[in-house]
Amino acid sequence: MAKRAKKRNSAARRPSRPQKKLSDLFHETLKDIYFTENKIIKTLPKMAKAAQSKELAAAFNKHLRETQGQVKRLDRVFRIIGKPARGKPCEAINGIADEGAEIMKEFRGMPALDAGLIAAAQAVEHYEISRYGTLRTWAEQLGMSDAARLLQETLDEEEATDKTLTELATSVINLQAEQEQAEAA
Ligand SMILES: [Fe+2]
Ligand SMILES: [Fe+2]
Repeated sequence: MAKRAKKRNSAARRPSRPQKKLSDLFHETLKDIYFTENKIIKTLPKMAKAAQSKELAAAFNKHLRETQGQVKRLDRVFRIIGKPARGKPCEAINGIADEGAEIMKEFRGMPALDAGLIAAAQAVEHYEISRYGTLRTWAEQLGMSDAARLLQETLDEEEATDKTLTELATSVINLQAEQEQAEAA
């Protein structure tokens, strides 16, 4: 404990260390979500193609169009902070996407595929909701009301998508469970 405190003090004393502020953190996190959205644009068409339920495929395609608009909103936020729109590889979304790809591969043509796709998609939405909530709050704290409004618009879309997926999960999984019970009887 004492050792750690000592280390922190010596770091604070070092005068040459550049001071990273909330605006730097905002920029870093913006690059992270920019990478995430572009990754999702590549992943959603595959998920729509794999989905067995027409409603689920339609929901993925609808969210693909929304995601393209979300990237445009991020372009505007980058413009507000005067930085180039550029992503930074995010291992969190890569991991979530890998898990989704694994489900698509292992459950291809299987009855539980759609339930797995919905679960994978909801993991993505929850990650996005967490990121956009944080970015919106930081934009407000940094006095960037236009950026905060843009981020809130996307946050609303992510939350609506999550809700749609929950509703689809209930209908898809209920149907599947009924079939499994009928087969078992
Ligand atoms: Fe998104
Ligand atoms: Fe999303």
